[in-house]
Amino acid sequence: MVARGYGFFSHRGISSYVFSWDADVKELQISGKRLWDSLMALGEVGAYRDERTGLKGVNRLALTDADAQGRRLVKRWFEEAGLEVRVDRVGNVIGRRKGRRSGDAPVMSGSHIDSVPTAGAFDGCLGVLGALECVRTLNDLGMETDRPLEVAFFTDEEGCRFGTDMLGSAAAVGRLELETVYELKDRDGLTVRGELERHGFLGTAPERLPPPHAYVECHIEQGPILRAAGVDLGVVTGVQAISWQDVSITGKSSHAGTTPMSLRSDAGLCAARIAVRLHEMALSGRYGEMRATMGAVQPHPGMVNIVPGRARCTVDLRNPDDAMMAAAEKDLEAFYRSLEKEMGVTITWRQTARTPRVAFSEQVQAVLARHMDAAGHTHQRIMSGAGHDAQEIASLCPTAMIFVPGEYDGISHNPREYSTPEACTRGVNVLLRALVELATA
Ligand code: GLV
Ligand code: MN
Ligand code: MN
Repeated sequence: MVARGYGFFSHRGISSYVFSWDADVKELQISGKRLWDSLMALGEVGAYRDERTGLKGVNRLALTDADAQGRRLVKRWFEEAGLEVRVDRVGNVIGRRKGRRSGDAPVMSGSHIDSVPTAGAFDGCLGVLGALECVRTLNDLGMETDRPLEVAFFTDEEGCRFGTDMLGSAAAVGRLELETVYELKDRDGLTVRGELERHGFLGTAPERLPPPHAYVECHIEQGPILRAAGVDLGVVTGVQAISWQDVSITGKSSHAGTTPMSLRSDAGLCAARIAVRLHEMALSGRYGEMRATMGAVQPHPGMVNIVPGRARCTVDLRNPDDAMMAAAEKDLEAFYRSLEKEMGVTITWRQTARTPRVAFSEQVQAVLARHMDAAGHTHQRIMSGAGHDAQEIASLCPTAMIFVPGEYDGISHNPREYSTPEACTRGVNVLLRALVELATA
């Protein structure tokens, strides 16, 4: 017995269309074992042993040899699953599964497989391998969808190596120009373009993505909220604003033993004061639910007996409220100017990433929530604290995300990152059912 439901979509008031779904969709099941085996196999690429904890971590910084090895592996898996694979000019890898109506806009899913240098096996990979597992399951069942399905991994979501996050997906939606992306450099002066070329991932397909019909991404939560609430899954309502700065401080390098404290222009001390200020700003409550981090700081020349004459540091601000974010940026700028006067230093900074709060589609969220309910999974709505490729694709089509809870307070960007096989299976089963529903009629 097949029940049919109908829904109506609109996106930015310019397009609207009707979808329908079959009750049978609720019965679809992925292979949890195959998904897990794939996650663990990819987790071996770039694996390292964390000295302090003895845990196995993953280091696949974007476009390094390890990332290229991961890319080749997952691309091969895409091909083995019968996907027609294209590599675009920014290195995004997209596999297409035909639909009954091949001319229709596809339903898309994916994420990233690059990692921070101290990662676990789940961040991004669950979304990519989950989407691949959906395709493998449909292949096993010989099941066609009306619309094509596309599965993607986007280049350098993390932003750790070249300084800007969501690089591939931002280029795919036209937020970042290809030439700007190509010229970004890592600490050794190697460019995105050069590294894409070196690894054979400088593709020829246009990087601008024709708008999909809908986009759904499954990701680990990377935080403690879902586990603390004791719910099975999260329906992601959107992503908070992100602002990154690369800050350069110039003071005066001098002898640590002979230079009186009153005669110093200590660039290292200045960086430390910015770090403390960030912390105080975040705790003050004046900027709403702001989070602030100085994740990198390099005093120069970095010697025990030299007052640092230069320092470079980063600033990462997150805020679910755009106005609060703008206020924090303005006040931080004023603090830099006051430090210059007080400490005799010069502070310059570059905005390396800036994205506003993004709201996901209510309709796609409703589809996800309905499938969670149908499967008897408890769930709650949750705003993402981390950035995701989905926030870029959301500018093209109705988009939402599924969050899978993590263990150990949902710790992430850390080798301890872990979600159970059962939780991953739950999330990807909902992904499969949502993709099939969205790709039907
Ligand atoms: C991506 O992991 C981010 O920094 O939010
Ligand atoms: Mn991620
Ligand atoms: Mn991440």
